[in-house]
Amino acid sequence: MTFRKTKLLPLLLLAGCALAPMSAAAQHERTDWPALTAAYAPDAAMEARIARIVAGMTLAQKVGQMTQPDVRYITPEEVTQYYIGSVLNGGGAWPAMNKHATVAEWAALSDRYHDAALAADMAAKIPLIWGTDAVHGHNNVSGATLFPHNIGLGAAHDPELIERIGRATARQVRATGITWVFAPTLAVGENRRWGRTYESYSSDPQQVAEYGEALVRGLQGDLTGDGDVVATAKHYMGDGGTFNGQDQGEARASRSEMINRHGAGYYSTIEAGVQTVMASYSSWNDVAAGHDYGKMHGSREMLTDVLKDRLGFDGLVVSDWNGIEQVPGCTKAECAQAINAGIDMIMVPEDWKAFIGNTIADVEAGRIPMSRIDDAVTRILRVKMRSGLFDHAPSESRYNGQASAVAATDLAREAVRKSVVLLKNNDRALPLVQGEKILVVGDSADSLSNQTGGWSLTWQGTENVNADFATGSTLLAALKAQLGAENVVYSRDAVGVDLTQFAKVVVVLGETPYAEYHGDVRFPAPVQYSHLRPNDLALLHAVSGKGVPVVSVLYSGRPAYANDLINLSDAFVAAFLPGTEGAGLADVLSGGRYDFTGRLSFAWPGSACSTGEHAGDVVQFARGFGLSYARPATTGELPLPTTPGACDAAD
Ligand code: GLC
Repeated sequence: MTFRKTKLLPLLLLAGCALAPMSAAAQHERTDWPALTAAYAPDAAMEARIARIVAGMTLAQKVGQMTQPDVRYITPEEVTQYYIGSVLNGGGAWPAMNKHATVAEWAALSDRYHDAALAADMAAKIPLIWGTDAVHGHNNVSGATLFPHNIGLGAAHDPELIERIGRATARQVRATGITWVFAPTLAVGENRRWGRTYESYSSDPQQVAEYGEALVRGLQGDLTGDGDVVATAKHYMGDGGTFNGQDQGEARASRSEMINRHGAGYYSTIEAGVQTVMASYSSWNDVAAGHDYGKMHGSREMLTDVLKDRLGFDGLVVSDWNGIEQVPGCTKAECAQAINAGIDMIMVPEDWKAFIGNTIADVEAGRIPMSRIDDAVTRILRVKMRSGLFDHAPSESRYNGQASAVAATDLAREAVRKSVVLLKNNDRALPLVQGEKILVVGDSADSLSNQTGGWSLTWQGTENVNADFATGSTLLAALKAQLGAENVVYSRDAVGVDLTQFAKVVVVLGETPYAEYHGDVRFPAPVQYSHLRPNDLALLHAVSGKGVPVVSVLYSGRPAYANDLINLSDAFVAAFLPGTEGAGLADVLSGGRYDFTGRLSFAWPGSACSTGEHAGDVVQFARGFGLSYARPATTGELPLPTTPGACDAAD
């Protein structure tokens, strides 16, 4: 039986939930791509110096400069031999492939790559730039404090907090000798099926624009300080708007929607001076207008005509991980179309040697004009010069090699407090009261993995145990610390436990970590939390309705339909993916000094086939909803529309 999207008006709970006011941007729809003024104007002396360097480079040196391998697949010696301009560490790549590599070992590897680049036989030496996904703190590094993922930060509605997180993240990254961060993600998440929903700040483009600007300012500072890094506006453009939320799929937005929704974050970050843009795997097909722009990685119209010529972006465009192979006719190791379209630096993690040979051949055969190569190298050198790499080695930073620099506990704890949302709190089930005895249940209660989600030590955030993080506190540990270990009893599944011995039961529900397409809920499957995690529903049934108030806490990367869980709970907290500092969550659960201030930055669905905020979607909690102790409200029984085996109305 399939479930037809009814044309019900969105069901909005009365208590304290008003649809977020239309953002300022939405009130003034743009009719064209804006001509922007980037924060860093070209510097004549710098441009002349760059031109001299480019003029003295061989083709092999230029193509090497445009090549970005992963550190697992290139040695410092090969960086020297092939004139490599950049490296990255993808999720799950660590020095010597040691997950527990120390900050000093990260910094030492950076020094080796830096020295290797300067040892290349070139008329003018060009320093290497190392890029990393520090997307919620320096998440590749064991011992680094990890912040809430973007979906939770969006609920904080606090751009100033985001800027402070950017500063702290930049410091963490500079401690390891790295000077380029692949953040912020500027996706305006539209469909809850998308596995990267949690990397989006909000479904409101205006909030994404404000947050993106704040993070760029936090990360980049003035670009040349020893606590500054280069930021990345990603993934350009429309990654969060694909049909059915399919990761790397096709956005079918109109030109106006692309300009006004998905472009919003790029305007604010380009004007804030972001120096790099990462192309999106996704494609854009303006079906209504019959205009198919194709894969972003191969779209000259979007990468050059719009981004560089119209928006005025003069930094570098980097491809995504093997992103060029998705361009029709291309492979991991060759794509003249992508380079001609406007990709300046090619993230070719493994097949970099073949890529260099193929690209040199493409230029020599006239498939790529030398002028395009020169422009790409010019942009790369411009970013390196603006960020001070020609003047100071990455190691010339007070933070370099300093383990203390990757700690940011207090800031992360504050971010957690502000990023969690109280969706229900009947009969003052919350706050937890000092001296009361509570039972804590659920696999996620003592799991830093489920607390931190994807992009945590490994790409998927899996294959980790609590000790791997070498820092942080699970919610269980934090509750014991705050309420007294004698007042907090843990049982994974509450089997054989006499609930009447306890004042309350705290049920910690959670997705297990995922990243990118691994997290997609493919159409036509329903997007219902208890379908994705049936054990959690069984656990709630085991403890609910036994005369003891049930407080549910949900770790999730997306707002998934959960009325069945909420009805079984007396209080319900959407905690999203809070990161390593579970103490921040305990702070608000135990009341005391802190109240809930979080408000949803995405509408929360009221049925299993409602995947967004489009006409016809059933909304249970509107964007902007959030309860607090100061503004209590009683939540009635939520409707339980039948969940089908398969949804029928595509996007
Ligand atoms: C990934 C992601 C991108 C990330 C890059 C490098 O596939 O799409 O966000 O920056 O590869 O890890």
